Amino acid sequence: MASVVVVGSQWGDEGKGKVVDLLTNFADCIVRFQGGNNAGHTLVVDGKKYIFHIIPSGILYEDKKCMIGNGVIIDPEVLLVEMDELKDKGLPVTPGRLTISENAHLIMPYHKMLDHAREASLSKGKKIGTTGRGIGPCYMDKVGRVGIKAGDFLDPEQFIDKLQANIEEKNFYLTKQYGAEAASFENIKVQFEEFAEKLSPFIGNVSVELDTARKSGKNILFEGAQGTQLDIDHGTYPFVTSSNTIAGNACIGSGFGPAHVDEVIGIVKAYTTRVGEGPFPSELPEGDPIGDELQAKGGEFGATTGRRRRCGWLDMVVVGDAVRLNGLTGLAITKLDVLSGQPVLKIGRKYTVEGKEFTCMPGNIRKTSLARPVYEEAEGWDEEISGVRDFSDLPLKAREYVQRIEDISGVAPAIISVGPDREETLLLRNPFEKS
Ligand code: GDP
Ligand code: IMO
Ligand code: MG
Repeated sequence: MASVVVVGSQWGDEGKGKVVDLLTNFADCIVRFQGGNNAGHTLVVDGKKYIFHIIPSGILYEDKKCMIGNGVIIDPEVLLVEMDELKDKGLPVTPGRLTISENAHLIMPYHKMLDHAREASLSKGKKIGTTGRGIGPCYMDKVGRVGIKAGDFLDPEQFIDKLQANIEEKNFYLTKQYGAEAASFENIKVQFEEFAEKLSPFIGNVSVELDTARKSGKNILFEGAQGTQLDIDHGTYPFVTSSNTIAGNACIGSGFGPAHVDEVIGIVKAYTTRVGEGPFPSELPEGDPIGDELQAKGGEFGATTGRRRRCGWLDMVVVGDAVRLNGLTGLAITKLDVLSGQPVLKIGRKYTVEGKEFTCMPGNIRKTSLARPVYEEAEGWDEEISGVRDFSDLPLKAREYVQRIEDISGVAPAIISVGPDREETLLLRNPFEKS
């Protein structure tokens, strides 16, 4: 019996979907604990691609229990589309296979409207480049104690009360502050009555279910979204998302005690990407031939918004922050295959900012945007490696690159991924098996 948390170590899109899918094989329960449908987690099984935004990707396995924890925010419309798509693929989602926490907050239409209106009102350099999914405004309501929860679907009177109060306030901001259209109480009421009917059977107490699962010896897998540098407290604020993305939130966002977590696996892309605005010290800007090559070979387009992902060298300052903030016990190094053919690889070791050296991300955003990485160089390899299944069969220079990541971070890789497919993986250590 073990509990394993998987988190992104960089700015998201590290390959969490693929790694979670792989580890789901050994798990009984899979839990999302934060974020919403700003996430886009891709997995490829036998050449078939699936993208999940809300439901844990473990839903593809028929005998696993999936849970959406209290820390997640749910757009019911998107969740139902995701469920319908699974049904069309012959995988109907039943209450036996999915529980939604009664304490998870709902993304309402006015949250999306406010997200768009706020972004549109910001000047260049101040825009966050959000996914436009209503994430910030929904978490603001949660913290502001006016949010509507999934559990309110079970209490129509309370739901209507909360909706009424919110509509009044939100329409004031939408129309007076932003000059945008008002949200319609009637339309939302009707639409949400239908959502309530469809989703009510799934609503339950995730914390209690997890406790029961743990006590009966089940393996539990926590699926993080976004990445460490997008954490609301510890990331490159304000160019972050609105939730805590780091491993500590696996407990808060699901109602699970911290002493019961056994392993924290950090997903590290073999280079770095970022989608949206904000500082990115090791970026190879658009037009740089190597950056463009990584972008093309890695297929670096957002799984949620389709935006081009910015690409750059592996930054071990970022990875070091992830090791510390998440307490990583293992790494999953992904997309190593994308680096094949690069004669020289650069690895960021520290930053210089206004003549001073930093070995962690500066807390001040002005300083972060001035950070210049100091690199060490590693020799690359030519061979394509997607067919490799054994570490010893990797080219020497690829093994050395992986070893360098371990030496600098102080954390050994448990998984190396050499292609998008479930099969294209080297499992060096199973985190569910205690050593
Ligand atoms: P997530 O948000 O962390 O789950 O990552 P995304 O799914 O948004 O983006 C990762 C992309 O890389 C997806 O298209 C995956 O199919 C793909 N991918 C994952 N691992 C590998 C790998 O080792 N090699 C290659 N070439 N692609 C991979
Ligand atoms: P996964 O789980 C990469 C980024 C957005 C934007 C910032 C804030 O697939 O790794 P938001 O809509 O959350 O308010 O946007 O965060 N962002 C992500 N970037 N991967 C993600 O999720 C992301 N979720 C949000 O691009 O810069
Ligand atoms: Mg993604």
